[in-house]
Amino acid sequence: MHVDEQTWRAVDAYIEQVIGASDEALEAALADNARAGLPAISVSPAQGKLLHLLTRAVGARRVLEIGTLGGYSTIWLGRAVAPDGQVVTLELSEHHAAVARANVLRAGLETVVDVRVGPAADSLAALDDDFDVIFIDADKPSIADYVLAALRLTHPGSLIIVDNAVRGGAVLDADGDENVQGVRRLNEMLMSDDRLSATTVQTVGSKGYDGFTLALVVGS
Ligand code: SAH
Ligand code: DHB
Ligand code: MG
Repeated sequence: MHVDEQTWRAVDAYIEQVIGASDEALEAALADNARAGLPAISVSPAQGKLLHLLTRAVGARRVLEIGTLGGYSTIWLGRAVAPDGQVVTLELSEHHAAVARANVLRAGLETVVDVRVGPAADSLAALDDDFDVIFIDADKPSIADYVLAALRLTHPGSLIIVDNAVRGGAVLDADGDENVQGVRRLNEMLMSDDRLSATTVQTVGSKGYDGFTLALVVGS
């Protein structure tokens, strides 16, 4: 059976309606991202809802995000822990961070979300908190490094979520580009690190064919 990309997108639009994955603050965030010239690579509405539900399902109070962009995923995560929880989100670009702060403010999450600017590796090294959920969605070559750094900031029961783990199937290519190498290096780590129990969920939809890797911290 072959189902084409147009159908993935149509079904994603249908799912968005069914789950009500859109409202004024979320739509305004995407619109302002576009206006500010940010790339249209935020998680999709249905993926945002998945992040939100996973965060609630593990009863998270504290969330760490690596790769803020305009804060679209941040809003989904922030709503999952509001009003008493916290989302720390790491972003390299001062411009992206400024757009994200405005989007977060409009969503009423300014007391929940802390946007920190700088290379994520540096921001991670400066962190000493414990997080229940970590969402990794920044530069792909560094994914494995981010998971390793994140492990220091987790406890058994913490959930690590990694975006863009399938890349249209390119993950199969052992000689793929640096992004594919980043994903494959993470997967090699997952195969050998018994502190993590993981799976990858393949996804299709408005962002094409990609996937999330979910890794539960099971040991320390
Ligand atoms: N999570 C966002 C999308 C993130 S896009 C959402 O779904 O809404 C990836 C982001 O990672 C970009 O904003 C990019 O500037 C940022 N990024 C890239 N390299 C980085 C690094 N070394 N440290 C921190 N952020 C980085
Ligand atoms: C792309 C998509 C992403 O989700 C991301 O984090 C980075 C890049 C892309 O489609 O290019
Ligand atoms: Mg992504």
